[in-house]
Amino acid sequence: MNYETEQEEFWAGNFGTDYTERNNNTTLLSSNIALFSKIINQTKNVNSCLELGANRGLNLLAISRLIPDIKMQAVEINEAAVNECSKIPNVNVFKGSIFDYNIEPETYDLTFTKGVLIHIAPEKLDDVYEILYESSKKYVLVAEYYNPTPVEVNYRGNTKKLFKRDFAGEILDKYPDLELVDYGFAYHRDYTFPQDDMTWFLMKK
Ligand SMILES: C[S@@+](CC[C@H](N)C(=O)[O-])C[C@H]1O[C@@H](n2cnc3c(N)ncnc32)[C@H](O)[C@@H]1O
Repeated sequence: MNYETEQEEFWAGNFGTDYTERNNNTTLLSSNIALFSKIINQTKNVNSCLELGANRGLNLLAISRLIPDIKMQAVEINEAAVNECSKIPNVNVFKGSIFDYNIEPETYDLTFTKGVLIHIAPEKLDDVYEILYESSKKYVLVAEYYNPTPVEVNYRGNTKKLFKRDFAGEILDKYPDLELVDYGFAYHRDYTFPQDDMTWFLMKK
C-alpha cells in the first residue's frame, strides 16, 4: 500500500507493529481508565465515540469500562493493531489511514485523538482537525504533547516522526463555535496512574 506521507508508512509498517506488541499491558489500561473517568466526568450523555489512531484499543477499552453500552468507531492504519482492536466488543474499526476515512453523515457524541496528532505530517493536520470537528455531535478531545510553538523532536531515533504544538489552540481558532470545557496534564511519574506526559483538552460545540 502506498501512502501519501512518510509518517503513515512508518506507522503502517514494522515500527507500528512493534509498538502494538509493546503496548499490551494492564497498567496502561488502568491509567487510561483513571484519565478518561476524569474527562468523561466533564461531559453529559456520551453514548458514542470516534477515535482516530486507536492502535490496539486501550483507550476504547477504558471508555467501555466507564460507559458499558457505548458505540465505538476506530480508525487505524496498522494491521496488527486493527486485528487487536477489532476484538473489543462494540468497536467497529476502519482499517486505513485517517486521510482515507470519509466523514460519515452519522456523527459521534465524542471524537478524539490521543498521541496521534503528534505523529501526523504537520501540513496534513487541518484534514484531521476537520474530521474531528465534522464527525462530532458535541465533544472533541485531544490528548497530545503540548508546546506553545510547533517543534519537531527525535522519536526513538527517528526524524520527522514526532511534532509538538498547541493542537487544541489551533482547533479552537479554526472552529470558533468550539469552547474549551477543561484541560489537564497526566504525568509519567504519577505514582498510581502514569501517562506519557499527555496534555488533554476537552472542547464542546
Ligand atoms: C502513539 S500511538 C497511540 C495509540 C492510541 N491512540 C493510544 O493512545 O493508545 C499512534 C497510533 O496512531 C496510528 N496512526 C498514526 N498515523 C495514522 C494515520 N494517518 N491513520 C490512521 N492511524 C494512524 C498508529 O498506527 C498508532 O496506532
